[in-house]
Amino acid sequence: MDEVRVRLPGREYGIYIGCGVLAGLGKLAGQLGFGNRMLVISDTNVGPLYSEKALESLREAGFTAELVTVHPGEDSKSLTVAQKLFGDAIRLGLDRRSAIVALGGGVVGDLAGFIAATYLRGVPLVQVPTSLLAQVDSSVGGKVAVNHPLGKNLIGAFHQPRLVVADTAALSTLSERELSTGLAEVVKHGIIADAHFFEFLEKNHAAVMAREEAAMTRIVRRSCEIKAGVVEQDEKESHLRMILNFGHTIGHAVEAGGGFGRYSHGEAVAIGIHGACLISHYLNFCSEQTLRRICSVLESYGLPIRAQGLDQDELAVFISRDKKSLGGTISWVLLKDIGTVSVCNEVPDEVVRRALRAVT
Ligand SMILES: NC(=O)c1ccc[n+]([C@@H]2O[C@H](COP(=O)([O-])OP(=O)(O)OC[C@H]3O[C@@H](n4cnc5c(N)ncnc54)[C@H](O)[C@@H]3O)[C@@H](O)[C@H]2O)c1
Ligand SMILES: [Zn+2]
Repeated sequence: MDEVRVRLPGREYGIYIGCGVLAGLGKLAGQLGFGNRMLVISDTNVGPLYSEKALESLREAGFTAELVTVHPGEDSKSLTVAQKLFGDAIRLGLDRRSAIVALGGGVVGDLAGFIAATYLRGVPLVQVPTSLLAQVDSSVGGKVAVNHPLGKNLIGAFHQPRLVVADTAALSTLSERELSTGLAEVVKHGIIADAHFFEFLEKNHAAVMAREEAAMTRIVRRSCEIKAGVVEQDEKESHLRMILNFGHTIGHAVEAGGGFGRYSHGEAVAIGIHGACLISHYLNFCSEQTLRRICSVLESYGLPIRAQGLDQDELAVFISRDKKSLGGTISWVLLKDIGTVSVCNEVPDEVVRRALRAVT
């Protein structure tokens, strides 16, 4: 079992990674001084696969743990579903020391995290991420949220987990598309922070795509280290944390342009990474060879680098909407070399347009 420690002022927690670590959930939670009652939140895909093991481990450690499941998918990240879950928490008599356990992908993690952040003004949260995206990204860093009909993730909080247990064995039941979605964020981590890790991803795509145990543990661990390292320096996204948004400005526009169904988040981010690299290249920040290396890694992980069929004017509109809601400036994260990025607030519109033309 690998362990990554996340050290924030006054709080510290462990991320435990490896094949089969779910069986140790109860024991790990038992060391944290939680109350006896627990609520495990999952969805109806993940629950039948992994809740028995999770509940058994928690009950063996002496917890009274109850499971509730929600429908899979983004629609469950809503205040309506949260309202029902608050009712479950009250009925089960959860008190301030009772932990909420999120067993599932990023949707369950964000939703259960939102419950934990707000129920009784905050109770302990345990993240048990089961999708690759959740293991390498959403379960780390403490952002939790539900959606509003007018926009994604608009109602939320910063609420750090007390424990994260990422069982790489769970990745075996993930669909190919969900695997690739998570891999986009993994590649992003290599690009923004670690050239050596990027090289590993270049050389080992066959092992990763075959979900070989050693490769999966390595990519989850290194991603968690990189994300945790950034969050430790800037928990509330004042500056450094922005680098985690590399590829996301165009990525969010692609997600929206495709009606939030055509491209998964990771697919949109892969296209956005391509766009951000093009902008970096046009501005003479990065070489053409770097750009080519990145495109070929993304493609080797089954990710698209162009949003064929999407309209570049429409994408530009989504980007300018983002710009308005961010108070008039977009912080573009640009690439200098693999492992080195910087934030730039002044990218001329025509350069953005040129990149959008090239990725559509
Ligand atoms: N809080 C953050 O910092 C942060 C960061 C990135 C993304 N997010 C959020 O994460 C969400 C996306 O996460 P996601 O991609 O994990 O989506 P998801 O939770 O919808 O999971 C994707 C699908 O895979 C299924 N699944 C999950 N684990 C499985 C497993 N082991 N075996 C079989 N099926 C499994 C789920 O039931 C679902 O159908 C979005 O809502 C996004 O906003 C949050
Ligand atoms: Zn992302």
